[in-house]
Amino acid sequence: MIVDEQRFTLTRIGNEHDFRDQMKRDVRSGLSSEHKSLPSTYFYDDYGSALFEEITLLPEYYLTRAETEILEIFAPEIVAAIHPDELVEIGAGYARKTCLLLTAIHEREAGSLYVAIDVSEGALRHAGQNLTHEYPWLSVKGYLGDFGADLSAVPRNGRRLVAFLGSTIGNLASTQRPGFFRAVASMLEEGDGFLLGVDLIKDEQTLRAAYDDAAGLSAAFNKNILTVINRELDGDIDIEAFEHRTVFHADTGCMEQSLRARREVNARLNAIDLDVHFASGESIHTEWSCKFTREQVESEMSAAGLTMTHWWTDSEERFALALARLPLLSST
Ligand code: SAH
Ligand code: AVI
Repeated sequence: MIVDEQRFTLTRIGNEHDFRDQMKRDVRSGLSSEHKSLPSTYFYDDYGSALFEEITLLPEYYLTRAETEILEIFAPEIVAAIHPDELVEIGAGYARKTCLLLTAIHEREAGSLYVAIDVSEGALRHAGQNLTHEYPWLSVKGYLGDFGADLSAVPRNGRRLVAFLGSTIGNLASTQRPGFFRAVASMLEEGDGFLLGVDLIKDEQTLRAAYDDAAGLSAAFNKNILTVINRELDGDIDIEAFEHRTVFHADTGCMEQSLRARREVNARLNAIDLDVHFASGESIHTEWSCKFTREQVESEMSAAGLTMTHWWTDSEERFALALARLPLLSST
């Protein structure tokens, strides 16, 4: 156990060596392939998590404000629909918006346990310490792990409301989402709920501003992935040789983030014994930020055996929260 305080525990569910080995495999295969890429999960060391929080406060980054607006109005309705014993949040980060669900849970005298799963130890410590300080009635269990591999290892403590907020689902490629939704469905039993935050399809200009803000935080966040790789894999990639790039894909409505070499770059990653060459103008894909329609969310959930029961949007229809459950078992 990493933290064992009276109302806050922090436990590693994935094996640390497995995670490091996974990172080595991901970086080797991502930087050796013809179209270079890195998984967006590696943005989130302590600094990356703090930087993301700064992004959520930017005037251009409407996502967090829009989702907060929905939670401010509908958290009591969400909680009433499930009446959970535990709130389980995947990719919780600093869990700032979670307060709105926790307050509604307390007001309805539902459970007093909050379970947070994240790959960032800094974010989990921040969330656990903050929330136990803020809410004297709350216990927090943090699990350090990979939501792509470790969801089934999270122990169950009664009826669950599983939340995946912030449109982090949009950071999964369309090929990864079916497996993720099936893993979430496997966490649920009859009566449980799954609350999903999704960013909705919108105009290019709004998206470009949100992912390439005037203060340069999105650029710093994107480049931080190279700092993480250099530190963890004993590398010497010249970070200043790369620039932040965003591409709007009009066919799907998705944003894509990448890092483009301004000049030819040669680098070495000692921990994986890898030499990497970047041609001038070559890009490393770092992140998808996919956007959705209601029909798309309903259909992807349904393919994983989940039934969408509610759909709430903010007043400007920029963002939505979907609530889903397992279908009721027929009694015949
Ligand atoms: N839910 C918060 C934070 C979103 S940022 C919000 O809505 O604002 C995305 C979060 O997912 C980060 O905290 C990051 O550390 C976490 N994350 C990214 N990839 C992950 C993975 N593979 N497993 C677990 N957590 C992951
Ligand atoms: C966490 N995730 C939903 C953010 C997003 O909007 O895709 C991450 C982010 N990337 C750039 N800015 C914010």
